[in-house]
Amino acid sequence: MNTSKNEKRKFKIAVIGATGLVGSIMLKVLEERNLTDNEIIVTASERSIGKKLTVAGKEHTIVSVEDAIAAAPDFALFSAGSGASLKYAPLFAKNGTIVIDNSSAWRNFDEIPLVVPQINGEVIKPTDKIIANPNCSTIQMVMALAPLHQKYGLKRIVVSTYQSVSGTGVQAVNQLMQERAGEPCGKAYPHQIDLNLFPHGGAFEPNGYTTEEMKLVHETRKILRAPQIQITATVVRVPVIGGHSEAINAEFEKEFEIDEVIRLLNEFNGIKVIDNPTQNEYPMPLTAHEKDEVFVGRIRRDESQPKTLNLWCVADNLRKGAATNAVEIMEWLME
Ligand code: A2P
Repeated sequence: MNTSKNEKRKFKIAVIGATGLVGSIMLKVLEERNLTDNEIIVTASERSIGKKLTVAGKEHTIVSVEDAIAAAPDFALFSAGSGASLKYAPLFAKNGTIVIDNSSAWRNFDEIPLVVPQINGEVIKPTDKIIANPNCSTIQMVMALAPLHQKYGLKRIVVSTYQSVSGTGVQAVNQLMQERAGEPCGKAYPHQIDLNLFPHGGAFEPNGYTTEEMKLVHETRKILRAPQIQITATVVRVPVIGGHSEAINAEFEKEFEIDEVIRLLNEFNGIKVIDNPTQNEYPMPLTAHEKDEVFVGRIRRDESQPKTLNLWCVADNLRKGAATNAVEIMEWLME
């Protein structure tokens, strides 16, 4: 790290998987936040080495992961899949680099912090070298619930997600668009997704839930440091390109007032309330497109039982659900 008294500190930042759906948005977010003044190193798989990528108007050559490790960057933002994370994150860490990993590879290890900076940035210790970025659906749900949990204490969450195809990857986006155009296509899913939806995200586990559903359970408890919260989830894949939506039913330990719930949400950094149903105003995937905030609406009391709230939340799954949160973890550490 270069520092001098009156100069802004310069960092070396590597993006692993820079050509991918999330990696390319990481680069965009770095540019938007004026972080491309730092030294940027871009890597991808072997087939992309030597190709050029333009970042903030400047051409960068894609280097091998090995070369990126040897450059000993201050930070490595990973979005190249779990296999690459498991293989390379420890090598970066050994060389002194702080890894912020978007895959699910490291999230469930007790000693690895799982971080949404607005909620639990302080769990990162100076000695931590690998930090996990949570799953996209978890990030937006904990963002919407954290300020309420702090005040009223979460007891139980029932969540149904409406997840867009970009969460699966570029192949799934192609499947949707080609099915829509009536063209033959490769299948990212076992079923047609256009004009359809299915209650299936990730792989089925022996308990009948999917990996995506269980991420919502385990990751939420870890981030909120509240293993006692009861959580049950149903993940649905919908024919939307980008932006995940969630219908959340949350039961609290304490009584709440709707006005105060709205105030707490509005005051929370990174949340925007859009809740004017009589004017047809509520968050939708198109509302969240290319935005960094988590949008919350349809805030209302569950009239079927006390101390229980219904709300709807939407976020750009590639932004706050992935790239933006990773960059925000890095910004937290830079500060
Ligand atoms: P490449 O473009 O060379 O295949 P996505 O999540 O959109 O599928 O993107 C995955 C990203 O991870 C791409 O940038 C891809 O590079 C990169 N990648 C995949 N496998 C590896 C690997 N083993 N080492 C480094 N980068 C990888």
